[in-house]
Amino acid sequence: MNTVLEERAPGWFLTQDAPDTAIPEESMPPIQAKRLVEQELAVEGIPERNLATFVTTWMEPEARAVIEQNLHRNFIDHAEYPMTAEIEQRCIRMLAALFHAPGETVGARTQGSSEAIMLGALSLKWKWRGRQEAAGKPTDRPNLVFGGDVHVVWEKFCRYFDVEPRIVPLQPGKYTIGPEDVEPHVDENTIGVAAVVGTTFTGHADDVVGINDLLMELLDKKGLDVPLHIDGASGAFVWPFLYPHSEWDFRLERVRSINASGHKFGLVYPGIGWLIFREKSDLAEDLVFYENYLGKTDATFTLNFSTGSAMVLAQYYAFVRFGKAGYRFVMETMQSNAEALAKDIEDLGKFQIIGAGEERLPLVAFNLAEKQPYDEFDIAFQLAAERGWMVPAYTMPPNAQDVKMMRALVKVNLNRSLIDTLADDLRAAISTLDEKGPVSEAERKQVKTSVTH
Ligand SMILES: Cc1ncc(COP(=O)(O)O)c(C=O)c1O
Repeated sequence: MNTVLEERAPGWFLTQDAPDTAIPEESMPPIQAKRLVEQELAVEGIPERNLATFVTTWMEPEARAVIEQNLHRNFIDHAEYPMTAEIEQRCIRMLAALFHAPGETVGARTQGSSEAIMLGALSLKWKWRGRQEAAGKPTDRPNLVFGGDVHVVWEKFCRYFDVEPRIVPLQPGKYTIGPEDVEPHVDENTIGVAAVVGTTFTGHADDVVGINDLLMELLDKKGLDVPLHIDGASGAFVWPFLYPHSEWDFRLERVRSINASGHKFGLVYPGIGWLIFREKSDLAEDLVFYENYLGKTDATFTLNFSTGSAMVLAQYYAFVRFGKAGYRFVMETMQSNAEALAKDIEDLGKFQIIGAGEERLPLVAFNLAEKQPYDEFDIAFQLAAERGWMVPAYTMPPNAQDVKMMRALVKVNLNRSLIDTLADDLRAAISTLDEKGPVSEAERKQVKTSVTH
């Protein structure tokens, strides 16, 4: 092997295409392989300017050290790494307490909110089936009720696990749902209702209190036992600190499970998510696997098996490092910068801010207040072309699909001076468009339109 390495001049790979179909026959020295990979990534966006994603793009050096030191630890090896397993349980207990669980409960570390939602919704399905069987009723037509404001993962769950999705459509100007929207769709085949706290599209929350009241009433008056799952992918780490008096969690009796993305406002790099049940009995026992793994009985409730420990440890690091005071400080900082950005955008005189003043994630969702020769997609392109900002433009879900929107996430690394720069750059992009008119079709195709993360 050494001969092969020595025969090739250093830097030979600079004049070759990067391997992209088959594993190369020969080896290359680590430094060259590292350069090759780095150069492939050079054309990608810069994470600091990625205002499309909710996912953490900056962590402290100490947190990165914790991650780096633990990349070789397989999370599923509970027998070998019992402290890692205990630290997962600590995180679950801390989150359950943060979400006001009434007593001892269960939960799981997942790859992100998507896996947490799949598992949580599977538990809804299993529990519903148990109730139906006990009552001698059919179990062949389960349905799940949620709004058009949910993340795509909810529809994915329905397709993968054979559940009828009952989707409440949005309306122009109404981007969240409430009890009046949910009520017509609920019946005895409803495995649950999913409500979002911090929607992907505008950052607002469904009327969780109203939906909880409705489900309480259906239970009391009609004997319909329909649990509520909260998709707090982003909001579950924001609401407890920015809106501590707002009830969206286990303080509401029908809320039986909550998912949260540790890798969003939990302030950890991807992939880490959490699923927390209100009470142990909310987890369908049939979904738990008891395995004898390397001599120790292990109870698992996950879709995958082997996975990294590093992000679990990083989540624990974040909890002890920031404490509640630190999380509150970070959330308030982001929200204050989001408000500054919203004001700057409003001052440009062309845009309206969506749902300003309402409880929301630290972001600015906005669109053109009046018709212009160009639209939000043109602006997104121009902003990216002039300064590399990744601010997505998108259309809202049905029946608000004619509404175009832009959205800038304000994460902890977008400080006030960057906010001012972004506002100036937006002004510059607008004045370019005022002068030259809309961008070309080819340019519009390059616009970042995905907001599903
Ligand atoms: C409301 C909501 N639910 C679920 C998800 C999926 O989360 P994850 O990317 O952690 O799998 C997202 C992602 O943005 C989201 O915003």
